[in-house]
Amino acid sequence: MFLHLKNILTADEVHSARQLLGDDAPWMDGRTSAGGQALAHKRNEQLAQDSAAARQLRALVLAALHRDALFFSAALPKKIFNPLFNRYSGESNFYGNHVDGAVLHSKATEQWVRSDLSCTLFLADPTEYDGGELLIKEAQGERAIKLPAGDMVLYPSSTVHQVAPVTRGARIASFFWIESMVRSTEQRQLLFGMDMDLLRLRASIGETSPAVVGLTGTYHNLLRMWADT
Ligand code: NI
Repeated sequence: MFLHLKNILTADEVHSARQLLGDDAPWMDGRTSAGGQALAHKRNEQLAQDSAAARQLRALVLAALHRDALFFSAALPKKIFNPLFNRYSGESNFYGNHVDGAVLHSKATEQWVRSDLSCTLFLADPTEYDGGELLIKEAQGERAIKLPAGDMVLYPSSTVHQVAPVTRGARIASFFWIESMVRSTEQRQLLFGMDMDLLRLRASIGETSPAVVGLTGTYHNLLRMWADT
């Protein structure tokens, strides 16, 4: 599933986040958190997780996710890895092809999270930097993603992906992973498609139409069958 979620953060929230992510923020070499495979071809900076700025930013992003119904419907989140923050600029400007780890340990929450979905929440506008596309390999070729500040992409953690070198300015983003209540991508996609069609149906024939009530029941019964909480 690839999903572009618009305006996860408001313009004011992006502004607040960026104030906490300036040059004086506790940026660290991103390689300290990379596994062996990533070490050789990862050059970026990450915000120190134990900093006050990181705690404030995590709360900001998590609150934004919790109010977004589309995010909930698409991801059906069971666990959200504490949002992390990175910057690609200057000499630290790329992350070569890799697959995200399947199970990740969060120091902030002392929790293991299985990565079903990967998320990138863009915090810099595309006009602020050149390069820095998130490039995701697909059977049909490579998909290039570069979104407005405040927008987020959800994509399967199983994909090979990279961040292309930033050649001007700075790409600042939040990134994290979701363990979904519905592990199967196919089942999760069916549920999301059905939920979206139900929204359209409610808008056109009304909430209390017997068909809408029945299909809403079917949605919940499928979710009940497939969800693991
Ligand atoms: Ni990755």
